Amino acid sequence: MAASTRTLKRPTQRKLRPNVREHPPRRPASPRALGQVFTPPVVAEFLVRWATAVVPRRLLDPAVGDGVFIRAFVERSQRDTRLRRTRIIACELDPRLAARFSASSEARALGGRLELRTADFLRARFDGGFDAAVCNPPYVRHHDHACDDGIFDAFDRRLGRRVPRTTNLYGLFMLRIWSLLAPGGRAAIITPAEWLNADFGRTLKRYFLDENAIDEIIHFDHRATVFNDVLTTAAITLLRRGRRSNEPVRLRRVRRTRELFSGRTTRAVARDELDPDAKWSPLFDPDSNGASAGAKLEQFARCVRGIATGANEFFVLRPSELLRHGLDRADVRICVSKAAHIRGPRLTRSDVQRLIDADERIYLLDPRTPLRPAVRRYLALGRRAGVHRRYLPAHRPIWYRPEQRDPAPVWINVFARSGFRFVRNEAGVSHLTAFHSIYPHDGIDADRLHALLSRRDTQRRIAAEQRLYAAGLRKLEPRDVERIALPRGDVRI
Ligand SMILES: C[S@@+](CC[C@H](N)C(=O)[O-])C[C@H]1O[C@@H](n2cnc3c(N)ncnc32)[C@H](O)[C@@H]1O
Repeated sequence: MAASTRTLKRPTQRKLRPNVREHPPRRPASPRALGQVFTPPVVAEFLVRWATAVVPRRLLDPAVGDGVFIRAFVERSQRDTRLRRTRIIACELDPRLAARFSASSEARALGGRLELRTADFLRARFDGGFDAAVCNPPYVRHHDHACDDGIFDAFDRRLGRRVPRTTNLYGLFMLRIWSLLAPGGRAAIITPAEWLNADFGRTLKRYFLDENAIDEIIHFDHRATVFNDVLTTAAITLLRRGRRSNEPVRLRRVRRTRELFSGRTTRAVARDELDPDAKWSPLFDPDSNGASAGAKLEQFARCVRGIATGANEFFVLRPSELLRHGLDRADVRICVSKAAHIRGPRLTRSDVQRLIDADERIYLLDPRTPLRPAVRRYLALGRRAGVHRRYLPAHRPIWYRPEQRDPAPVWINVFARSGFRFVRNEAGVSHLTAFHSIYPHDGIDADRLHALLSRRDTQRRIAAEQRLYAAGLRKLEPRDVERIALPRGDVRI
């Protein structure tokens, strides 16, 4: 593969170094695939200030983008002359961004002290360690990033453990940055807060705890929108080599970016008190003791996601559409398709009738065999629209037959802003993926369980399991629901 290291030197660019293997993108990737989310200048200033407190000889920015950290560094070195000898090594995969950055005034101001490499940070080779690193790595989910087994295997070997293949690209950047730090080196990294709670984050947390790497984590309040147009909560991780073994890990919550410079530590926790398998977001809540006590829901019930059709507009019909296509009620079953369709803590037959009267999408296609002529005609329409080739229908044994499972007695909504709602399904109907199904184990009373789940103190306990997105949006996966700690209460029949 052709090398493409670009080293900026005034007045001319230095030649490629033959011993450096670079991996430029094979084809231009989209901004989404490159995880291009840009850091606000005030946050960049904070990261640079913390990382360069050691007056680094070499500073790394592995995902330079439009150079916000370098700009902050140049501004800082105007005030602190000791930083004027620091060499900057910057890396950027997107050649267009790299070109734009290399033409910027800060790149020109740094002249020969800046080495810009148009390369994949995870594959590029670097000489020696870095005393400091600042980074806002790309956020790319494992489905979408191009990390092959070779990259993961190399991480496995370096860490001496298996790195989950579901790790977001930013997690791999964090690991690589840590591996490149010189003794005493510091890294300030801003990422989504997701890794603190996500399953893939366990390995990162365990590894960083084993390495005694974490100096501080700063968690932005879920109401703070750090990245203007992106629905994600943010956390800043400050990693430092050479921490004393008894130094605590500081955890801090900030509500807005300007608190970065003033906010107090929420809590300082001894390293061995941090459980890498637990969700860490609740630890940043100054009012919580961080523990989720009591029996977990999984002891009383199992939770599974709702029915996924793969094409709701075809499979879930309004009463008027049923009429129009001449379909029989016996070829559909009642299925709630939207969280907004349910108002209270109970779903009764009259609620269902209200949805039918309002002509909402409520009938899930579930045809009898042999297929009736009206059903055949309707399925032909679906085929013509290519519904049978969509991912989920194409992967079902019979493309038009939905999952068969009993209606769940209790439901919980998947997303919430103000609070999660448990619904007692008295109408005995099914639901789509807007809800998760809760099936009580044998001997557990659905009404009692629903009452316990609906208590105010359960809501507080849910906070320990939820995943936070920006603007107050929260999400629960079925496993999160099963891990909810319940208040005391009798739920047996
Ligand atoms: C989240 S943006 C951050 C940009 C900038 N540092 C900032 O903070 O505003 C991540 C940057 O990494 C670049 N990038 C994506 N994958 C990369 C890779 N494998 N190696 C190096 N850079 C990469 C993207 O093009 C993007 O510019």
